[in-house]
Amino acid sequence: MNLLAMDAEQPAANIPPPAGAAAPGAPRRPVVMSVRGLRAGYAAGAQALQGVDLEIRERTVTAIIGPSGCGKSTLIRCLNRMHEVIPGAWCEGDVRLGGRDVLQLDPVVLRREVGMVFQRPNPFPTMSVFQNVASGLVLNGERDRAKIAERVEESLRRAALWDEVKDKLDKPGTGLSGGQQQRLCIARALAVEPRVLLMDEPCSALDPLATARIEELLLQIKDQLTIVIVTHNMQQAARVSEYTVFMLMGELVEYGETQAIFTQPSDKRTEDYITGRFG
Ligand SMILES: Nc1ncnc2c1ncn2[C@@H]1O[C@H](COP(=O)(O)OP(=O)(O)O)[C@@H](O)[C@H]1O
Ligand SMILES: [Mg+2]
Repeated sequence: MNLLAMDAEQPAANIPPPAGAAAPGAPRRPVVMSVRGLRAGYAAGAQALQGVDLEIRERTVTAIIGPSGCGKSTLIRCLNRMHEVIPGAWCEGDVRLGGRDVLQLDPVVLRREVGMVFQRPNPFPTMSVFQNVASGLVLNGERDRAKIAERVEESLRRAALWDEVKDKLDKPGTGLSGGQQQRLCIARALAVEPRVLLMDEPCSALDPLATARIEELLLQIKDQLTIVIVTHNMQQAARVSEYTVFMLMGELVEYGETQAIFTQPSDKRTEDYITGRFG
């Protein structure tokens, strides 16, 4: 039974096979980040993560889905320690990046390797398009102007934005359209060459056309780095990801190849969610 076919929002015929669906029996990519027994919460309120175990494979797209409040944002914020920035927030458990204990790393070094793109595009308001993309490089101490210019162009090209902004590099980043601003933020994140890019519902503030452009660019860059994308849009998860994580009330219910999660989930709760019975 194809559960996607039961989704009222979109007929089955429109659902493409998952982007990177591996051929059956194909070897799996190496693990780049691993999470063991991750529990996290906030000063006020209930525990947000109840002991999550997860392995993220190198140069794949992993989608995290689940109803609002289930802990998706908390989970990805623990991966680059943005969680601890929230006053009173706590987390415990084991998170590793290429075998290194994330909690022992310098957060600045960690966030260079594990970048993040947020729900609302957030270009630095006082900076031009160029300066936005160059900001991470400058922060890292790069002073060679030619090298910076080269990297800015390359990053804007990777983010599929270069052609639209090459004549307004010195204009404010905030003057771009919403979709362009989000691609600018992706270019800014790519410029420091992260190993992992975390994206927290990066398209939820965008119209369908801008969303399609972001999805397209994800498919273009996914062979170059590891992407973890939170999305409330199951079609988006099916379109862009090779692996899908389903969460519910702070628990990781199921994790596996996107194709399998959407066609033969092993947990009844996953089936109920993806067939639209709740959420
Ligand atoms: N800054 C915060 N302070 C207190 N509670 C929070 C905060 N952010 C999230 N939470 C709570 O943690 C739980 C998980 O939230 P979140 O990770 O944002 O879920 P999701 O991204 O899946 O919608 C929810 O119960 C939410 O209310
Ligand atoms: Mg969230």
